Amino acid sequence: MNSDNRIQSVVVLGGGTAGWMSAAYLGRALGQTVKITVLEAPEVPRIGVGEATIANLQKVFFDFLGLREEDWMPECNASFKMGIRFVNWRTPGAGEAVGRPHAGGKDHFDHLFGLLPEHDNLPLSHYWTRKRLNGETDEPFDRACYVQPEIFDRKLSPRRLDGTKVASYAWHFDANLVAKFLRRFATEKQGAVHIEDTYVSAALDQRGHITSITTASGRTLEADLFVDCSGFRSLLINQVMREPFLDMGDHLLNDRAVATQVPHDDEAHGVEPFTSAIAMSSGWSWKIPMLGRFGTGYVYSSRFATQDEATEEFCRMWGLDPETQPLNHIRFRVGRNRRAWVKNCVGIGLSSCFLEPLESTGIYFVYAALYQLVKNFPDKSFDPVLVNRFNREIETMFDDTRDFIQGHFSFAPRNDTPFWRACKDLELAEGFKEKVALYKSGLGVNLPVTDESNYYGNFEAEFRNFWSNANYYCVFAGLDYLPDRPMPALAHRPDAIAAAEAKFADVRRQRDELVATLPTTHEFLRQLHGK
Ligand code: TRP
Repeated sequence: MNSDNRIQSVVVLGGGTAGWMSAAYLGRALGQTVKITVLEAPEVPRIGVGEATIANLQKVFFDFLGLREEDWMPECNASFKMGIRFVNWRTPGAGEAVGRPHAGGKDHFDHLFGLLPEHDNLPLSHYWTRKRLNGETDEPFDRACYVQPEIFDRKLSPRRLDGTKVASYAWHFDANLVAKFLRRFATEKQGAVHIEDTYVSAALDQRGHITSITTASGRTLEADLFVDCSGFRSLLINQVMREPFLDMGDHLLNDRAVATQVPHDDEAHGVEPFTSAIAMSSGWSWKIPMLGRFGTGYVYSSRFATQDEATEEFCRMWGLDPETQPLNHIRFRVGRNRRAWVKNCVGIGLSSCFLEPLESTGIYFVYAALYQLVKNFPDKSFDPVLVNRFNREIETMFDDTRDFIQGHFSFAPRNDTPFWRACKDLELAEGFKEKVALYKSGLGVNLPVTDESNYYGNFEAEFRNFWSNANYYCVFAGLDYLPDRPMPALAHRPDAIAAAEAKFADVRRQRDELVATLPTTHEFLRQLHGK
């Protein structure tokens, strides 16, 4: 072919976490063939302070850029996270000093990374369910099937000091530092063009494609493809392309947050290798430990708490003075754009979709969308087949996660406040009801997924099975929302039932060995960060 129909230029609007992740990722994927320009408004404050991520971030995103943990972690005040500890989701916490200075309180369960051990092609969840429903065990699901809960209790590290990895983990970090780090990477190593200026308007051709955007100082930036990373304002995809935002307040009640940073004495208390999600009277609070401090915020529903009430409850939990503590009050919209990609404009990050950060999916949504954009990358004809395919992938990714998050509130036994009672009245999506029915039947959801190296090593496999049986079990069984009966077919496998006991014993043995030999998270991080 003579006429080169390839996309030659991309403009990324927005220099936040999503903008610089997009520039770096597209720079790596499209190499020398495409010119990438990032327009960053100097005065736009970034939303993220203290972000939690999920385990595939390294393989799907940083490895792709050629960056090792040792390259980026020290630059971003990063620490480890082996999962999420859910505190007080079953009971109001009986007056215990919730989460202070650690996620204390007796009412907690853990949602861990990594798949479940299996026997005879069935995960331990199924053997545990049988024992629990037959009254043969009192051990909670997470402690029976995973080594990590005891590692959490002792704040131990998922890696030994020689670097050996003993459990799947993700990261906590300061998203502003990640954005800065990737800005340096994209501009210095990949030749992205960085323009500090403010967006004013966009010009469209007759087909409704964006041809250029203009800036406050009078620049005109032309491109074949525009990536909207402008955050909640969604300057291009909502405002210029007029794509409707589908509000999902009928699935999730929370629409506000109050956030802050709290100094933390790591020497005295250690560094927790997990995110905490602490249930509150009208929502929940995150706690994201990093070196020397933790980020925290109360996500609440404005229908059930005023800003002052939420602030008071939040500050009381951490012993903060609301008069002097710097607090960031955030309003958010829950939902997604009807289409993430319209004509030659793709939304990535908050301009595209947003969910409360209960399962740490915010950053994941950014690189999962980038992966799909590169996979379905168009030429100048913008084949609608590719565009539709991309949009369908984003829709499923988002809606499945929305449903799973809604399940946390719907199935939580808590019923003690108007907020928790109102959660029980919200309708579940039809597709999610079917998954819940599979879980209740004892069959499990999205089986079989038992091969961890394939799961985390092969993003196609994980993307299609993002919420695996292990995720459903950790959260649902953690909430005491159990299957109605053991998997019926299991009753015909007495040998497997007996042999699974050896797997439970392996979990205990491995756990005891790890607890006796792992360094603390604080020790490991001090070595890594050279502090
Ligand atoms: N597939 C994801 C993973 O295991 C699912 C996930 C998202 C998850 N958020 C999580 C698992 C938080 C544990 C904790 O990485």
